[in-house]
Amino acid sequence: MKIYSDTAADIAEVAALLSAGEVVALPTETVYGLAADAMNEKAVRRIFEIKGRPLLDPLIVHIHDATQVEKLAEPCAEVTALAERFWPGPLTIVLPKKPVVLDLVTAGKPSIALRMPAHPMMREVLSLSGCPLAAPSANPFGYISPTTAQHVADSLGELAPHILDGGPCVQGLESTILSLLEPETPTLLRPGPIRKEQLEAVLGRAISIAQKGSAELIAPGMLDRHYSPRTRVVIFHDILPDADDKTAWLWQRRPSPEKAALPGTHFWLSEDGDSTTAARNLFALLRQLDVMNFHYIAAQLADESGLGLAIIDRLRRAAAE
Ligand code: TXA
Ligand code: MG
Repeated sequence: MKIYSDTAADIAEVAALLSAGEVVALPTETVYGLAADAMNEKAVRRIFEIKGRPLLDPLIVHIHDATQVEKLAEPCAEVTALAERFWPGPLTIVLPKKPVVLDLVTAGKPSIALRMPAHPMMREVLSLSGCPLAAPSANPFGYISPTTAQHVADSLGELAPHILDGGPCVQGLESTILSLLEPETPTLLRPGPIRKEQLEAVLGRAISIAQKGSAELIAPGMLDRHYSPRTRVVIFHDILPDADDKTAWLWQRRPSPEKAALPGTHFWLSEDGDSTTAARNLFALLRQLDVMNFHYIAAQLADESGLGLAIIDRLRRAAAE
């Protein structure tokens, strides 16, 4: 395995590997992605093999600039407005796809998920390679998404021979996914760093939340258990679960002395409850706790403000049986 750094030579090498059909783990501002040239079927197939990902789970395609939207998808006024405000950034938009897009990338769906990531090294790789990059999160299917290069190395090992190290991800949670398949009735498929209200303000209309079992949620909403550590996670809000010495408490903020006196070991996502900090730390802390042999992780749900909804979504999935 080789870990590449932020030098111009390393970034150029990584871009050349991608152009040549190799799979490379790349940093984004959300989580690390396992990337390949979206137009190269053999390369995309490797992504599914490496992750152990079912072929029915479509991939997000990452682009360098907005002119690529109309090459891959049927654009609309709404995507232009959202792109202007939020791209590059942690927003993925689902649109009707153009025929050039591989069925393998979209899991046979007539739609494509597009995102223009903000991480400067990712943008450089997109620019140098010249290809749109299909990339799911760089974790084995169902496990916690990686927010450092070391996380990728830890969980994929030799399956991921090339990793570009761009430091810890600043957002720490996967992008918000919005479906514009019917622009009149936009639908939120996955809560993330960009909040529904921010999108509604730009669109000037209400966004509905996709219901479990809806056609658009073929994945990953269909798969409740997602982003899961091996250690059992129990979520709580007001009523504290039973605890013993082998319980890990995962608090949203530093616990008060009376909470910190509960049996078990205490960890927190932020000092003061700031949800941006909590989101950034969530996956790294879950990974850390997962190798400490706790009986279970008692995880406090966040408030819904700020990035709280996205944090709650990930904790619920981590706790799903
Ligand atoms: O932040 C992110 O979005 C990260 C980084 C690497 O960009 N990527 C990521 O990919 O989280 P992944 O594969 O872990 O989640 C992608 C999800 C799929 O599981 C699926 O739910 C949704 O995106 N998706 C992709 N194409 C879709 C489509 N055509 N229609 C509906 N949902 C789609
Ligand atoms: Mg994922």
